[in-house]
Amino acid sequence: YENQDGRPSRQRLLVVANRLPVSAIRRGEDSWSLEMSAGGLVSALLGVKEFEARWIGWAGVNVPDEIGQKALTRALADKRCIPVFLDEEIVHQYYNGYCNNILWPLFHYLGLPQEDRLATTRSFQSQFAAYKKANQMFADVVNEHYEEGDVVWCHDYHLMFLPKCLKDYDSKMKVGWFLHTPFPSSEIHRTLPSRSELLRAVLAADLVGFHTYDYARHFVSACTRILGLEGTPEGVEDQGRLTRVAAFPIGIDSDRFIRGLEVPDIQKHIKELKERFAGRKVMLGVDRLDMIKGIPQKLLAFEKFLEENPTWREKVVLLQIAVPTRTDVPEYQKLTSQVHEIVGRINGRFGTLIAVPIHHLDCSLDFHALCALYAVTDVALVTSLRDGMNLVSYEFVACQDAKRGVLILSEFAGAAQSLGAGAILVNPWNITEVANSIAQALNMDSEEREKRHKHNFSHVTAHTAQEWAETFVSELNDTVIEAQLRTRQ
Ligand code: G6P
Repeated sequence: YENQDGRPSRQRLLVVANRLPVSAIRRGEDSWSLEMSAGGLVSALLGVKEFEARWIGWAGVNVPDEIGQKALTRALADKRCIPVFLDEEIVHQYYNGYCNNILWPLFHYLGLPQEDRLATTRSFQSQFAAYKKANQMFADVVNEHYEEGDVVWCHDYHLMFLPKCLKDYDSKMKVGWFLHTPFPSSEIHRTLPSRSELLRAVLAADLVGFHTYDYARHFVSACTRILGLEGTPEGVEDQGRLTRVAAFPIGIDSDRFIRGLEVPDIQKHIKELKERFAGRKVMLGVDRLDMIKGIPQKLLAFEKFLEENPTWREKVVLLQIAVPTRTDVPEYQKLTSQVHEIVGRINGRFGTLIAVPIHHLDCSLDFHALCALYAVTDVALVTSLRDGMNLVSYEFVACQDAKRGVLILSEFAGAAQSLGAGAILVNPWNITEVANSIAQALNMDSEEREKRHKHNFSHVTAHTAQEWAETFVSELNDTVIEAQLRTRQ
């Protein structure tokens, strides 16, 4: 086999995630243009020498006709991607419904939606049925492409049923499952009507991974309290079969950002931004426009800071990049209006004819623009209400070796466990505390900034995405070998 760089590798890795790392745009009946996205997982697997990765997932578009499906399958094959085709109804029930309206808020401690809390309604039942059906569709595609010896790595809350579906096909398949969100306290998980079925399906995997030790601990507690199974230091045991459970904190491809800063185009962007915001300190937020990111709370804290610190009013600007996401889900539509209203109010209160305190953009930025923004920022504000890890905080640190800006970081982001000593940690629900932290960050002396930055920079450059992927896959291989040895004894 060959890895992504064309070097020989010893094992094939099938990476299964709800979304393929490409965006596909239809150009004609049988032609597609594809753009590879450079999210965390993609960069994690680029440059890993040990295995040849194939991607299996949904391309994010509805392709009802066979000609279109065949053409897209061919186009994706060049990128080592294999599509799972989901029709509109399944996307509505599985992706918008069960994944994004039920599991996502629940895992981030926002509870179940009202209408489903009242009773196990028909909509809940049909969404769960669609979830299982979609997971089975992913499993069918994996099974079609699986060869003995392959490692299958399932990702995220969309695919909790997948380990079970795969093991039903072949109990010898090496299956790992990794959750990119928090796993909540067992007291939260037990409110979910399908709590037990989901846990059992995940336990079919050989290795189950989380970003932090706490999430792993919550998962083990859910299995012991809800299923009555035995938790051990290695994981969860059910009738002599062990599912290994452990923490594998993800990282970023820090070199890509550090090298990126030398690119002339980025340097040009940096120069333009410095001129544009000369004389003002730059504060930055980069978030998907999602309720878990705590954008309204962040804006309210910034408003309070401006109220209480009139001398800073014309000397600071907050650039908030809010990347639109899941726009078909009503909760996300409501959030967008709420955020716009708050931004409008603050700019109306504190803006002048010359300048406004908040530049809010509903868009995503390309890599060059993002690097440049990170590099000119004085204070980054990551105030998620809950967040599996939050790699924006890592990307900011990677781009700050010249400036040594300050990171304000929510204690409820997984990243707080790794960058906590260098960042100013805050409770994002406490608006006063966040407002005070903004003042502390803007006034921090260079010695203190240097000390904090060094701590974070050495963590971000040492714990990379590549290392994360290699560790998970080698642990999965070892887990399966150990299990085989145990059954032979
Ligand atoms: C989170 C999830 C990912 C998901 C991403 C974007 O980071 O953990 O699995 O892909 O959000 O959300 P979307 O719904 O657009 O795929």
